[in-house]
Order: sequence, then C-alpha cells, then structure tokens
Amino acid sequence: MITVIGSINMDLVVDTTIFPKQGETVLGNLFTTVPGGKGANQAVAVARLGGDLHMVGAVGQDSFGKELTNNLKVEGIDTQFVYATDEAATGIANILLYEQDNRIIVVPGANALITPKEIDAAKSLIEKSEMVIMQLEIPADTVQYALQVCKDLNVPVLLNPAPAESFNPSWMDLVDYLTPNETECADIFSEDVESALEKYPNKLIVTLGSNGARYFDGKEHIFIEGYKTKAVDTTGAGDTFNGALAYAVTNGQSLKEAVRFANIAASLSVEKFGAQGGMPTLQMVENRLGGQIK
Ligand code: RIB
Repeated sequence: MITVIGSINMDLVVDTTIFPKQGETVLGNLFTTVPGGKGANQAVAVARLGGDLHMVGAVGQDSFGKELTNNLKVEGIDTQFVYATDEAATGIANILLYEQDNRIIVVPGANALITPKEIDAAKSLIEKSEMVIMQLEIPADTVQYALQVCKDLNVPVLLNPAPAESFNPSWMDLVDYLTPNETECADIFSEDVESALEKYPNKLIVTLGSNGARYFDGKEHIFIEGYKTKAVDTTGAGDTFNGALAYAVTNGQSLKEAVRFANIAASLSVEKFGAQGGMPTLQMVENRLGGQIK
C-alpha cells in the first residue's frame, strides 16, 4: 500500500483564448470546477492504476470539502485520515488555461492546517506503507516532521518538491526519490542539472514535460523520452507521473522501467481536461507501452 500526505484542492478553471493585460477585462470561454491538489491528484493517479492508496490531508467543512472527500472515496481511496476542519475553508487553485498551458495560484486553506499532530495520528498507517508520497502544498514543518517519521520507520519516501520555495536541501538525506521539474531543480540546487543529478544517483529524477524525464544511475545519465501526444490540458501531468512512478517502483519495476511507465501514464493524462480527468488505468498504460511491462 501507498500513503499520500498532501494537499486537496478544488480547481477553479478558466479557459481563455485571450490573456488579459494588467488592468484589462477580457471574456473567457469556460469556467469549470474539478477536483485537484497535488496530493489528491497523486493519490488518484495511484488508485486509478489499481494501487491500494491511503490519504492524509485536510479539507474545510464546506461543500468543496464534502465533494472532494467523496471524490477520493469514489476513486477507491481510504479517507480515514482526511480531516474536515471548521478552522479554514477547503483549499482552492485558481487555474488559467491558456494556449494548452496553465498558470496556477493556490490558496491553501485547510491544507495549511496539517500539523505534526495529524502525522502522529497516521503513524500506524505510515508504518504499513511500502512508500509515502509528499509534495509541498502543506506546511514545510509538517513535511520535515513526516520525513523524519518515515525515516525512523524505515518507509521509503517520494517527495515531489512542488512548489519548490519551501524545499530544504537537508531533506535530501531523508528522501528516496526527489522529482522536481527542470525549473524546480534549478531553484533547489542552484547548479546545472547534470551536476545535481550526479550528486544524487538513482534518487534525483528530473521531469522534462513532454520530453520525458532523466536521472543519473551512478555511471551514466539516463534519458527516458516522453510519449508524444496531443495535449488538451497539462494540469496534473506531473502528479500523474509521480503517482505512477511510486506505483511502478512499489510493484517491483526497476527505476528505468518505472520512469518509462510514469512517462506513459503522464502522456495519457494530458489527453483529457482536468487534473484527474485523464489519469489512466493500468490497462491503458500497458496498451500504450505495447505490452512491454509484466
Ligand atoms: O499539479 C496540479 C495541481 O496543482 C492542481 O490540481 C492544483 O490544485 C494545484 O495544486
């Protein structure tokens, strides 16, 4: 089983063909609300593939909170440790979809109230997990605490350092896999990608959007090319990659196979609207991989 500790947001998505200049009002095409949040997205990615997924997170006692918790349940995710707080509203993400790309502002709300207390409460769950996945849309102190708990319990961690501002370099000793994109990698390590990768063989995996992902295996740089497809909405592609990577590694795939698997899952995810809309089942990934995985 896999546990995700992280954010749950309602995505408020505006699709527009005109990008407003400062002070300008423009007419957009479509407004939609869909489930999101990096934590919840990664959880759904694992569950769609058939993984046994448990979520630790928080929502507000409002209609978004109920809808999002229910969405996780419908996806087959255990929500015993998803708290409904009356101290904050459910987190939201304001997403502007423009020219097949997105710009996102997150207002954390209840996600900011996940503390070490909630991590302690979920310790029995963490202990049983084959892997814990985290991101950085919950407080950095909580991430730090959870990383230490996982280390003490000997549970492997995949940390997706997004958004990267609150990343602490000392966490490199506490994580098993770190999966920044190129921009996050540059922000975190302040050096070129090659040298950063060489310092963390088989641990640092840099995602390259539609171009795939890369890592250093201790001897050589490994590039796993992405599957080229027509993107409808790239929101959640990184989350799909992370969920699929964790699923594949915990199912015994080598890192190389797992990255290939995750790339394919991410390529399928961008073909439909919404962060979770296109997340694939195992069958869909296997079909695209052409039966290469067992
Ligand atoms: O990674 C995509 C996600 O980032 C969106 O679903 C949004 O909620 C933000 O957290």
